[in-house]
Amino acid sequence: MATISLDDRATGPSVRPNRTVFAGDLSAPEPIPEAGIEAALRLMRDGRLFRYGEDRSGLPEAALLEEEYAAYMGRKYCVAINSGGCALFIALRAAGVEPGDAVLVNAFTLAPVPGAIAHAGAKPVLVDIDDRYVIDLEDLDRKAEESGAKVLMLSYMRGHIPDMDALMALCARRGLTVIEDCAHTMGARWDGRLSGSFGAVACFSTQTFKHINSGEGGLLVTDDEDIAAKAILLSGSYMLYAQHRARPDMVVFERHRFTTPNCSMRMSALVASLLRPQVAEIEERNERWRTIHARLAPLVDAIDHIAVPARPAAEAFVPSSLQFSLVDLEDARAERFVAAANAHGVHVKWFGTEGPVGFTSRHDHWRYIETTDAVPNADRVLHGLCDIRLPLWLTDEDCETIAAVLREAMADALAA
Ligand SMILES: Cc1ncc(COP(=O)(O)O)c(C=O)c1O
Repeated sequence: MATISLDDRATGPSVRPNRTVFAGDLSAPEPIPEAGIEAALRLMRDGRLFRYGEDRSGLPEAALLEEEYAAYMGRKYCVAINSGGCALFIALRAAGVEPGDAVLVNAFTLAPVPGAIAHAGAKPVLVDIDDRYVIDLEDLDRKAEESGAKVLMLSYMRGHIPDMDALMALCARRGLTVIEDCAHTMGARWDGRLSGSFGAVACFSTQTFKHINSGEGGLLVTDDEDIAAKAILLSGSYMLYAQHRARPDMVVFERHRFTTPNCSMRMSALVASLLRPQVAEIEERNERWRTIHARLAPLVDAIDHIAVPARPAAEAFVPSSLQFSLVDLEDARAERFVAAANAHGVHVKWFGTEGPVGFTSRHDHWRYIETTDAVPNADRVLHGLCDIRLPLWLTDEDCETIAAVLREAMADALAA
């Protein structure tokens, strides 16, 4: 298979006359709600931005965020962390993963996921995906058998959710502990049940391009009291964990406080203050994303050589981005399509490029993991996979314009 090096917007045609141009910035986020800005200002005036107090407590923003997010998720415990990737690392450690252990992970995910496994000193075992971009359950069964892994890091990459009934049944049969990477599924559901409520532990990201935004941040939820206590200690609570609210009983900490390292990955009170008002907005935001996706996806699917995979009825996904596959298109034409779309204002990310670009990277770019696991379908699917962001402010007219840019970019690619 030919490989292509494409440096994002650096290559490709310039804007052509009489062409549709999308003038918006697809990476522009929503502003922080006024209540979050006011809370942040209050904290800054107070000066106590660290989440824990010593002689006197400050404003308990992080503890309140944890309590509110645990309630939203219907989980007993929540721990606020400094990033989604660090939340994944803490989840692995708190779930008992030791250096050298094998951890199953779907091959289609973002770099912080294998990064978290490497951070824990564990060995990722790549599992193939199917044409719906989700983990292939037959390959999961096979790789679980071959590797003897006891943990699955299930990444709902770009918000695509596998058949959770079948997956959880397989994991139960194999005795696999499931850690859910919900960086792209905050508020999504499978058959009415929230993503992040299936596994032993689930992690979320609040980095700017996620469903709620604090620049950087992570949230970890679990119903397991030992995982929760270890996660709080690992996050860097010192012996101040009593100040947490969504935490297990103090006696549980006695089991772990002398044997669990402090990894200093706490969320600050300032970050938590920005997030609290956004938790209350998750459901409403997600409805807006579904409306945008429902408008744009059929327009994009109708373009020659492009297919948007159908989603199962049980999957209530949160489409903060749109994925589509390039079908029967030579690499040189794919490169021209992406370059023309980018030149006319629609930033298309393509997973078929030779090297990692921006936020895209493929499993063969993670050379530090030294895996020999075959994932032939992931190789094929990722070679044709494209992705665009769907900011919440997109109007129906914006969707029409984006589709027109993509249609014209494909016409360019085919004509050349
Ligand atoms: C699929 C996935 N998992 C985990 C993360 C890690 O999140 P963070 O950037 O907060 O470390 C990301 C970040 O983009 C991601 O895309």
